[in-house]
Amino acid sequence: MEKVAVLDSGGQYCHLIARKVRELGVYAEILPLRVDPRKLGPYRGIIISGGPASVFGVDSPRPDPDLFRVRRPILGICYGHQLMAHSMHGVVEPGEKHEFGQADLRIRRDGHLFTGLVRRQRVWMSHGDQVSKLPEGFETLADTRACGVAAMGDLKRDYYGLQFHPEVMHTAHGPEILSNFLSKVCRFRMDWHPENRVAQLQRDIERDTKGRKILFFLSGGVDSVVAYVLTVGALRPDLVHAVYVDTGFMRAGETQEIQATFRRLGFGSIEVLSARGRFFSALRGVADPEEKREIIGRIFVELQDEVLEREEFADHDWMLGQGTIYPDTIESGGTANAAVIKTHHNRVHRILELIEEGRVLEPLTEFYKDEVRLLGRVLGLPKALIERHPFPGPGLAIRCICSARASKPQVNPEINEVVREAGCRAFVLPIRSVGVQGDSRTYASLTVLHGTDLDYRLLLTLATEITNQFRRTNRVVLAILPKRFRLVEWKVRQTHITMKRVALLQQADRVVTEFLRDQGLIRHVWQCPVVLLPFSRKGGETIALRPVTSVDGMTAEVAQLPVTRVETLAKRLRALPEIEAVFLDLSHKPPSTIEWE
Ligand code: XMP
Repeated sequence: MEKVAVLDSGGQYCHLIARKVRELGVYAEILPLRVDPRKLGPYRGIIISGGPASVFGVDSPRPDPDLFRVRRPILGICYGHQLMAHSMHGVVEPGEKHEFGQADLRIRRDGHLFTGLVRRQRVWMSHGDQVSKLPEGFETLADTRACGVAAMGDLKRDYYGLQFHPEVMHTAHGPEILSNFLSKVCRFRMDWHPENRVAQLQRDIERDTKGRKILFFLSGGVDSVVAYVLTVGALRPDLVHAVYVDTGFMRAGETQEIQATFRRLGFGSIEVLSARGRFFSALRGVADPEEKREIIGRIFVELQDEVLEREEFADHDWMLGQGTIYPDTIESGGTANAAVIKTHHNRVHRILELIEEGRVLEPLTEFYKDEVRLLGRVLGLPKALIERHPFPGPGLAIRCICSARASKPQVNPEINEVVREAGCRAFVLPIRSVGVQGDSRTYASLTVLHGTDLDYRLLLTLATEITNQFRRTNRVVLAILPKRFRLVEWKVRQTHITMKRVALLQQADRVVTEFLRDQGLIRHVWQCPVVLLPFSRKGGETIALRPVTSVDGMTAEVAQLPVTRVETLAKRLRALPEIEAVFLDLSHKPPSTIEWE
């Protein structure tokens, strides 16, 4: 298959680039920046992503010195552009002033990249350093007022550099510029589309499984169902066995719904393994999110092993089937520059061992979520199933926040100073949640804003400012109910996961899902985790709503729902027994991950 390598210089840019390239019809894979250039043979073109580093940094990611000797077209973007200049004996100047935001690009020469495009266009810049002298063989293709070399090219060797970001939507002609690189410079056919991959994927499944039996653990989500249906279509049905584990952390009614869907689709029956007691008792007393994930992953593996010890598998060579998708392999430390943000349930230690042994079938690892949905459509899966909001493998267990000790909210005068202009007050809760900042995992406290008649848009901006400025907090929420707190009365309770808490969370989750559906809002959010926090006045709980928009879950923005409707929803939630407060999450990803744990 013709493909492009996107070399990862850190940050989330590389995913955005890979997704844009795929949308243009070229298959893109992300590789570490330090990849051995000899491994680049199968790639017809190379793109070096942007990233937060500076070429002057001692620890900055660097490519192999031979990268710029490969005889392949290369496009460097932002940090990639500077690396190219720096490595090929041009000059990069440390930035005294940062150029951040929209800039007016003036094209001086087409150089293939700008063929057919207007001479002046809006581009998105985000850099400190810049190229001040071209490497030999290069010429300037475009500039802006603040940046003399906004685009450069060596047309003989097919090396190009862009200081701006063609992959972001704020660059008006970004898709055309990338498309020109792919079609005119790399000469791709531009005909890769996930929908056309079904037949090949099924041939690959047949080849890789070699007549072995496949055990699929289904979660009911899009990924595992699409992986399962692909596999069933590729192999004899008696070779594929589907098991659904009722962990006790599913949504209300989910187990029955999934069984009914499978019957209706004619995929035969799935085996339901009831293991609630086992999961709950293993999680007793545990508060740390990574520990929770590890325990849940371990029990899944134990259950898998138990099924595999059965006669039907013991007598037959087997493989484990999983619906792992592309980002799942990256965020768990799958590439050199990506730190472990969260251990994904299908990347725990035992699974990694099985992968080593060649016993794991994962037909979807090359796809992003939206591409998996396209495959699902081609496979004839019903719209309701394909468009289901993503739901994490560990389920409500990672939305039921625990606390190892009792504590009190704290007023932070400096944060209060920041939010004063918005007429609101803030306090910090010692409840910690996971975030991702500058490519690393954070696990920090929660800031709660409260007040009346607040300007929601201003609060969103302030939320970003708070997480940028105060590194001890990585998530900001707005209290929808109550609007004012007498803080001395409120506290965080010491608690862990209990059946009672999960049942309450299921009730709240159902209220939210039905509300979003009835109000026609469900299509406007990509996902809306509902989170339970042990914060209360009278010993009850708080609910936090996390509506986001996203394309693939790698980055996300707060979904801006009408405030009056959020208030109506909050009233409904507060009518549930024990719910004393309702928060609305105001943090984008980054700095806060979508799930709190
Ligand atoms: P985060 O919280 O990392 O989530 O921003 C990104 C997307 O991944 C989902 N997610 C998971 N999915 N197993 C899964 O199958 C997991 O362990 C897991 N953790 C997060 C999350 O719901 C969001 O859509």
